[in-house]
Amino acid sequence: MQPIDLSKTYSILKLHQGKSGSLIPILQEVQAQYGYLPEEVMQCIADKLKIPASKVYGVVTFYAQFRISPQGKNLLKVCCGTACHVQGGGQILESIKDALDLHSADTTTDGKFTLQEVACLGCCGLAPVVTLNEEVHAKITNKKVKEIINHAK
Ligand code: FES
Repeated sequence: MQPIDLSKTYSILKLHQGKSGSLIPILQEVQAQYGYLPEEVMQCIADKLKIPASKVYGVVTFYAQFRISPQGKNLLKVCCGTACHVQGGGQILESIKDALDLHSADTTTDGKFTLQEVACLGCCGLAPVVTLNEEVHAKITNKKVKEIINHAK
């Protein structure tokens, strides 16, 4: 595994120097650079802000927007909102977990897929809904799930 290049983190920290309440914006910007928040990066942020690493880790693990491991090449989001749930969203979720063997992790071992369960995606009339890399797939069935997975690059 290659060492993490911290120069991007230092640049972001410099932009926020002297500003209070900047931990979350810093974490958002750093994650946008790396795709997730590596441990070395969280430690670097803690050191530079002179706060305990446990505080940084606590914030990162509290908010669903932050990731502590790399995201897969394809991001599959399954809507677990009420409308989708009523239309069989739970079964679709299980079907995807089975197909990708994702019962104890959110990313496949080959790094091809990351699965996220999300609240309403804002298109309830199309329930149940799944997105693949922000492309909306409406009225999903188990058959469509397999097609989506097989056609993903
Ligand atoms: S509940 Fe699924 S899109 Fe709204």
